Amino acid sequence: MTGSASNSEAAIWHDVECGSYAADLPVWDGLADGCGDPIVELGAGTGRLAIHLARRGHRVIGLDSDPVLIEALDERAAGLPVTPLLADARGFELPEPVALILAPMQLVQMLADRDERLTCLDSVAAQLLPGGRFAAAMVEGMPEPEEGEPLLPDVREVDGWVYSSLPLEASVGPDHITVHRLRQQVSPSGELTDMPDQVTICTMTADDLEAEAAEVGLVPIERLYIDPTDDHVGSTVVVLGEEA
Ligand SMILES: C[S@@+](CC[C@H](N)C(=O)[O-])C[C@H]1O[C@@H](n2cnc3c(N)ncnc32)[C@H](O)[C@@H]1O
Repeated sequence: MTGSASNSEAAIWHDVECGSYAADLPVWDGLADGCGDPIVELGAGTGRLAIHLARRGHRVIGLDSDPVLIEALDERAAGLPVTPLLADARGFELPEPVALILAPMQLVQMLADRDERLTCLDSVAAQLLPGGRFAAAMVEGMPEPEEGEPLLPDVREVDGWVYSSLPLEASVGPDHITVHRLRQQVSPSGELTDMPDQVTICTMTADDLEAEAAEVGLVPIERLYIDPTDDHVGSTVVVLGEEA
């Protein structure tokens, strides 16, 4: 394997589990085209969405708290109007006010609790241009697994190594949803390594987020919907703006 950030383990697993997701792109395209630039993506990762928007002509600031992913974004976005920004969504400062802030793939639910979400929403409200919008994708529940329909792993091959991530189950509680996955790595010589992995997000609804946002002066503008796919549950996109 090469030593570039794009080929780091963190970037590869990110690509395996998120890289091919495209069902949400029409929603972000519509908002981006309607609001103007610059656009901020919170939790931009290696740039699945930021690079997509930049290729469509938008100027994008991709914010993420993981330095390896930000370095990978910097490498992959070379020549495109993307500014990688190493910062935490739980309180951040932008180089300039922006027209649109996006939080795809349940970023707001990855924040640990209401206090963390409020510091994030406060930063959002402080840095939106007049008429600007904040749009956050949320999972409001998990579907029951279908009998006899085994889930398939997401798989990628990089430099002779095979990376596979199989969703196993999701446990839904009153406060948290935990998605369990089995990550498997096969070396070029055929050695298999199993690495159980889990992601926990907060259980919450679009109503909950709109109520929290009201505390920092952001009001509901609309809700948009992203259909489920074979690999991903459907999402509600809560769109917020400043009080008139
Ligand atoms: C599921 S990935 C989504 C990546 C990308 N937005 C996409 O749609 O393909 C979530 C990303 O959020 C980032 N993240 C999680 N918590 C964060 C925080 N508090 N501040 C900034 N980034 C965060 C992670 O490092 C990861 O890159």
